[in-house]
Amino acid sequence: MVFLCADTHGLKDIDKVVRFFEYKCRYNELTKDDYLIILGDSGICWDDSIQDNEVRRIYRSLPVTTLFIDGNHDNHQLLAEYPVTIWYGGKVHEIDDGIIHLMRGQIYDIAGETYFTFGGAWSVDQDDRVEGISWWPEELPSEEELEEARRNLEKVDYQVDYVLTHTGPSDILEQMGYQIFDGGEKLMEFFEDLQFRLDFRDWYFGHMHEDQHIENWHCIMEDIVEIITFE
Ligand SMILES: [Fe+2]
Repeated sequence: MVFLCADTHGLKDIDKVVRFFEYKCRYNELTKDDYLIILGDSGICWDDSIQDNEVRRIYRSLPVTTLFIDGNHDNHQLLAEYPVTIWYGGKVHEIDDGIIHLMRGQIYDIAGETYFTFGGAWSVDQDDRVEGISWWPEELPSEEELEEARRNLEKVDYQVDYVLTHTGPSDILEQMGYQIFDGGEKLMEFFEDLQFRLDFRDWYFGHMHEDQHIENWHCIMEDIVEIITFE
């Protein structure tokens, strides 16, 4: 089974995950071959402090393996310190036992379905944050990451089952009722291109801290979504 959630923010919003699995375990036998994927802002790598350890302890104690893409409120420089390995067809950082960072522009084959991942987002609140402490310029993608994504997508003829990102394309955010600010254009242009070129079943994202579904676009916050797998 594959479950998706978003924006758990360290210990702040982790309870929704803990409660969900307490409930789910009453009815389903879950193992480390089942997955929770967090769509950014997990706080699993924040400042390498006691709090990070506690966050990781909680994810380790879940019955499933925890996977996450990075958001904007994640320490990208700390993530980059971990060695890169290959997991189910894509590059990852293995952060801890059963806790894996899914890197940008990768395609993973999980339980017979393909997932394209691309974390990161522009922080509207970056003026209130301190670079290297609570904000990192790597929240936005490099040219290399964008190029790697395009190369990997070409290999699968721009066809995947699911797209997992932290934020969504600007016109979807507009349809959700948000005003679009300048900033993060590079990522938005990339998403706009994907939106029309990519053949996908569903696109999931977080970042806006609300649950809203427009056709096959899904912004999640409180919801924990179960992906129906066919294996
Ligand atoms: Fe967030």
